Amino acid sequence: MRILVIGAAGREHALVWKLAQSRKVQKIFAAPGNAGMSDLAECLPLGADKPVELADFAESGRIDLTVVGPEAPLVHGIVDYFRSRGLKIFGPTKAAARLEGSKAFAKSVMEKYGVPTAAFQVFKDQEKALEYLEGVKAPIVVKADGLAGGKGVIVAQTKEEAAKAVNSILKDKIFPEAGEQVVIEECLTGEEASILALVDGTHFLLLEPSQDHKRVFDGDQGPNTGGMGAYSPVPMVDASTIAEIRRKIFEPVVRGMQQEGCPFQGILYAGLMLTPQGPKVLEFNVRLGDPEAQAILPRLKSDLVELILAAMDGRLDQASAEWDSRSCACVVLASAGYPGKYDVGRVITGLNQVSDLEDAWVFHAATRREGNRWVTSGGRILNVVGVGAGLEAALGKAYQAADLVRFEGKHFRRDIGSHALKQAGGVNESMRKR
Ligand code: AMP
Ligand code: GLY
Repeated sequence: MRILVIGAAGREHALVWKLAQSRKVQKIFAAPGNAGMSDLAECLPLGADKPVELADFAESGRIDLTVVGPEAPLVHGIVDYFRSRGLKIFGPTKAAARLEGSKAFAKSVMEKYGVPTAAFQVFKDQEKALEYLEGVKAPIVVKADGLAGGKGVIVAQTKEEAAKAVNSILKDKIFPEAGEQVVIEECLTGEEASILALVDGTHFLLLEPSQDHKRVFDGDQGPNTGGMGAYSPVPMVDASTIAEIRRKIFEPVVRGMQQEGCPFQGILYAGLMLTPQGPKVLEFNVRLGDPEAQAILPRLKSDLVELILAAMDGRLDQASAEWDSRSCACVVLASAGYPGKYDVGRVITGLNQVSDLEDAWVFHAATRREGNRWVTSGGRILNVVGVGAGLEAALGKAYQAADLVRFEGKHFRRDIGSHALKQAGGVNESMRKR
């Protein structure tokens, strides 16, 4: 098969790496891809926001299957468009992608089909939203309705902060794409977990659990980012929690989307809070997580292309996935200043030394080739990934690699996986050494 992967980040490098292992695959193209994946895929100078040109290429390049990485093209309807031209593409339709594209829509589906989530109210009117805030207690969470590049959620510690968030979303329109509504919801506490599933419209196949680290600094301090690291599996998500997630979250939402006339086919990502009352949904995403994919896909032993084809044919009830029982950890190396302002064009060294390590590798997110040098070209630069028998061993590999890679301003969290290690019995030697 000839496969086209849409997207350019670390998640897509991991996806291309995994797809390239399939016996079914002859050639992979990436649009636009990145320099780090160019040994596995031919990168095309075509952005994810160019559906017509992408479909033209899929036609002329005799592409058998297109796989979409990021959310924006899905929310804008790339799947519907490809299908209207008779092209095979994996992902949810525009109507189904509303689960990520509109938080108000996701909340209404959860309410209607009894999926546990934070209590909430939706507002279009700024005055009404502010009036409502008068009567609630902080902390409280304010969310822009639509896509906001991971910046649309404000966990407000005071009512003043919440009011400021409402004003900047509804009055100042700081997220132009995020629509006209805000969701104000109860603040939940507990461990977070990312549970992803392949969904075929009717059936679903859960992938192994992972946990992201959203804040930029150690100890979950500082602003939210796209994600600073992830690991899989997650000891806090045990077999009985998985059974509960399956029954209370995935079964009703998959059935609900069918009943709403927009069956979900693709990858459904539930961002969960494990509360004392059980798992509750913080949000749905309609694609692989970044950096969750970098920690999950290295553990998947099964052929991903076969699983995707089973999902596209409605055969997931007959499919199963085989997993490496070892742990995988991913540490994101970012530019100093990210998620705010940062410099680009810093020379990166040490990548060859990582390729000499066993059970460790690097997925590129924002790098460029300049002659025979690698340079930085964004906020999240590289994902160093390690696999080992147990989380500590996996983290040991990932941090060994993280130390080998060098560039000016390199910033990364030293405490990836610490929640799990703490649960397993206190901060241990490997954490102290970091
Ligand atoms: P995202 O929409 O993925 O950028 O999520 C933002 C982050 O905000 C989540 O990962 C949580 O840490 C936090 N968050 C979202 N909703 C809530 C909530 N109801 N209670 C507490 N934290 C939340
Ligand atoms: N890591 C969070 C996300 O992909 O949305």
